Amino acid sequence: MTTADRYAVAGNPVEHSRSPLIHAQFAQQTGQSVDYGRLLCPLDAFKPHIRAFAEQGAKGCNVTVPFKFEAFELATHRTPRAELAQAANTLRFDAEGWLADNTDGVGLVRDITVNAGVPLAGQRVLLLGAGGASAGVLGPLIEACPAEIVVANRTVAKAAELVQRHADWAAQHGVTLLARGLDLPGTAFDVFINGTAASLSGCGIPVGAEVLKPGCLALDMMYGPAAQAFLDWARAHGAIGRDGLGMLVEQAAESFALWRGVRPDTAPVLAHMRALVDGSQPH
Ligand code: ATR
Repeated sequence: MTTADRYAVAGNPVEHSRSPLIHAQFAQQTGQSVDYGRLLCPLDAFKPHIRAFAEQGAKGCNVTVPFKFEAFELATHRTPRAELAQAANTLRFDAEGWLADNTDGVGLVRDITVNAGVPLAGQRVLLLGAGGASAGVLGPLIEACPAEIVVANRTVAKAAELVQRHADWAAQHGVTLLARGLDLPGTAFDVFINGTAASLSGCGIPVGAEVLKPGCLALDMMYGPAAQAFLDWARAHGAIGRDGLGMLVEQAAESFALWRGVRPDTAPVLAHMRALVDGSQPH
């Protein structure tokens, strides 16, 4: 009898994570023998927890808040997109060491261009926030070749630092990449992506509705109740509101492909997760 290969999502907190359910569906769909669980890591002991997990024979893990930077540091080798992000959401335990990857950005781009059917090439994109969430997606967003990306952040210096780190990548792809504050981020963007926790903290959306072009896509990287205020605001101002559930499923599929060499079909899994998340929300 063969035992399933072990994986987990490592974070703190982690009990709310939907990743085990998503990966169970991928495994069943592709016939892969995968056992994917949750790994709650103490805030001051991520490294020993991950090491013990790997030593027990596990093959890899996803990493969520607040350990994405630590995971990147721990790895012995890194994909170029993890290097750009300086953060990892995926580790693969190889015989020669640990590989760090970041699949968040490619997940976001696939959700926008494939699932939502909204093109990024040649478009104007506003990315709100310059923390870990935004850092994780900027490289792949640039790779999708929009005409312009504005990174707008409350602390402008953090946006400027993120833009500086991606300057060569943007130049290689012919993308105009700019850092701005929240007072004058620009107007009428084709795609608006919220990578901040501002709406969660009850502060409202920290930019004016003039950032939205009528009918544009406005996407919050969160989902469930955490995204509701943003979605209400976007729809009230004539945008197509979208939450981060599709991105969650797509980043998971990319991690699964990295580990297993097989790409799952995300459409039925996203439909299942959508029914689950919408069904558990108060109406
Ligand atoms: P994460 O890793 O989840 O991105 P983070 O690194 O703490 O978390 O970054 C949170 C982002 O949300 C930052 O861009 C932060 O702006 P600052 O860099 O100026 O701190 C932004 N943010 C959080 N609360 C905000 C608020 N009330 N208004 C505007 N921006 C906010």
